[in-house]
Amino acid sequence: MYPSLGTVLVIVPTYNEKDNIEIISQRLREAVPSVDLLIVDDNSPDGTGQVADELAKSDSQIHVMHRTAKNGLGAAYLDGFAWGLERGYDALVEMDADGSHQPEQLPRLLDRLVDADMVKGSRYIPGGEVVNWPKSRQMLSRGGSLWIRILMGLPVRDITGGFNAFRAETLKAIVGNITSTGYNFQVDLTWNTYSQGMRVAEVPITFVERERGESKMTGFIVLEAIIKTTVWGFSYRAKQFWSWVKGIGARSTS
Ligand code: GDD
Ligand code: MN
Repeated sequence: MYPSLGTVLVIVPTYNEKDNIEIISQRLREAVPSVDLLIVDDNSPDGTGQVADELAKSDSQIHVMHRTAKNGLGAAYLDGFAWGLERGYDALVEMDADGSHQPEQLPRLLDRLVDADMVKGSRYIPGGEVVNWPKSRQMLSRGGSLWIRILMGLPVRDITGGFNAFRAETLKAIVGNITSTGYNFQVDLTWNTYSQGMRVAEVPITFVERERGESKMTGFIVLEAIIKTTVWGFSYRAKQFWSWVKGIGARSTS
């Protein structure tokens, strides 16, 4: 039980994170002992799934879901959310396996969730920072956030961020609408929560680039994000435009 929230499940998706999974699991269990952990592994060729099974054997708060193939971050999380919602967790958290999201900062997210529906760990609000990311990756992330914020009118600074906490009710209301499979999944969750009138809060985090293993970022992931956010943004603006036109029509006939 986490104070004022209830039961919390942290979901960590893994693909080839053999050298990271034990470290991150231990850090989480030490930093916030009351929360449970679900590792969602996509049959990693490097044996991450077996390492995870070993961890689960000696700790009843660690669980493992084995998926058959690498189907993207979004698909792994949707399965993890379903697992947690079926078991009645009150809050669910997304966290990377590679140490970029620090379990020691999880209480910031959980404490804020007491009066929000979704909390994003944010690199781009005062107090937030990025350590050791190459300039190119920082520009992609900041540029992407700015583009989406302007186009979609979304008042969130770190829109693509992947360290997020949700109330169970929030996820129940949005999971059916999520269509993204890559990292745009994070934008999809944020956009759906916000557009249903729920409260999205940001708390500062320090994002630390991984020291072991490789990023799974690909050109396809970037392309999916650009295409989807552009379509959403323009349809949102078109709706705004039509309600403005209707407003003028209504005024001129009355
Ligand atoms: N199960 C599964 N299946 N896990 C995956 C897959 C997949 O297809 N793809 C990636 N992961 C896992 C990785 O093993 C890691 O634990 C986590 O998802 C994040 O992947 P990284 O490859 O480390 O992402 P990144 O560091 O490039 O990107 C980070 O920044 C993005 C932009 O802010 C992440 O935090 C993303 O969530 C975020 O959108
Ligand atoms: Mn990473």
